[in-house]
Amino acid sequence: MRHPVTYALAAVALFAFLAGNAAADPKFEGRKKCSSCHKSQAKSWKKTAHAKAMNSLKPNKKAKAKKRAGLDPAKDYTKDKDCVGCHVDGFGQEGGYEIEDPSKYKKGVGCESCHGAGSKYRGIHRKAGAKFEKKGKTTSRKKLAATGQDMDFVERCSACHLNYEGSGWKGTKEPYTPFTPDVHKKYSFDFDKYVADAKAMHKHYKLPGAFTGEPKFKMHDEFQATAEESKKGKK
Ligand code: HEC
Ligand code: HEC
Ligand code: HEC
Ligand code: HEC
Repeated sequence: MRHPVTYALAAVALFAFLAGNAAADPKFEGRKKCSSCHKSQAKSWKKTAHAKAMNSLKPNKKAKAKKRAGLDPAKDYTKDKDCVGCHVDGFGQEGGYEIEDPSKYKKGVGCESCHGAGSKYRGIHRKAGAKFEKKGKTTSRKKLAATGQDMDFVERCSACHLNYEGSGWKGTKEPYTPFTPDVHKKYSFDFDKYVADAKAMHKHYKLPGAFTGEPKFKMHDEFQATAEESKKGKK
């Protein structure tokens, strides 16, 4: 017969395991949540190639580009696991897009593909916004970084744009992008130039300033200096 202490220890271990898991990685939730607060960015993002990335996988779309990359323009690639991963949010990750159960809020390269899976930091945005509005108190960006918000972006962009053999990026793994500089030089990736292209990210809108300090994106102040007022004078 087993000693009760063994059971007690097993129970403790199981609890630690479950609790540890619950505290683990943030989940992808889809852009609906982000867009309800950040309407101006969402509206601007909708016009980008990232927003329409899933359309490119449909038959007879971007036929010339597909031919050039050795792909079949007549084929439907929208359910192909070798393609979908870089044309949606969070493929293969917790809460991310699934081929068998496709969420329309995770189709295309959306908010969380760049800013990080949002389940843990979006609540901080809400609280920090309210605290700032009511009492003028600011919140450290460290809280955002600790809950999965990305203020650097380089690794995220690279995982899609530089994922091919010989790109010089360390994280490469299959499936690779078919669109490399060997196919056409326009497919080369220059982070500093691309990230400053508001037509490819979204337009920037003035933030009231609820968050302060590092880690702050290196072009944050530059973007804010020329940012537009958002529609309702909010966020
Ligand atoms: C989940 C994968 C993914 C991530 C992450 C990603 N991109 Fe993209 N990007 C794409 C895809 C796919 C396209 C092409 C969309 C289409 O036309 O179908 C694209 C298109 C672009 C374009 C437009 C190119 C053109 O033809 O004008 C730019 C610029 C760009 N991305 C820059 C970036 C930057 C900068 C980042 C990081 C801040 C980034 N991307 C993050 C997948 C991604
Ligand atoms: C590792 C990530 C990745 C994978 C896997 C991937 N793509 Fe993409 N795809 C991209 C990126 C990044 C771009 C944007 C390239 C650019 O404009 O610089 C892109 C762009 C495209 C475009 C638009 C090209 C243009 O010139 O407008 C098409 C079409 C496309 N991909 C189809 C596919 C198909 C079909 C597959 C599967 C066979 C696939 N992609 C797999 C990352 C990927
Ligand atoms: C392709 C990458 C990319 C995608 C997709 C993207 N963003 Fe951004 N976003 C950025 C970059 C880069 C910045 C600049 C960061 C900074 O200044 O701190 C930014 C800044 C912001 C800001 C700060 C204020 C501003 O306008 O600059 C908000 C809010 C924001 N994004 C919300 C969103 C929402 C909501 C979505 C989805 C509808 C989204 N973003 C999709 C790259 C992206
Ligand atoms: C409940 C509303 C709400 C939701 C949901 C929300 N945000 Fe925010 N977000 C805010 C507020 C408020 C701020 C602070 C604005 C200020 O005062 O500067 C903020 C700030 C930001 C910033 C700027 C951070 C910085 O460096 O200063 C980015 C980027 C951003 N949000 C992206 C997102 C993304 C992506 C999502 C979805 C995963 C999201 N937000 C969800 C309300 C929200």
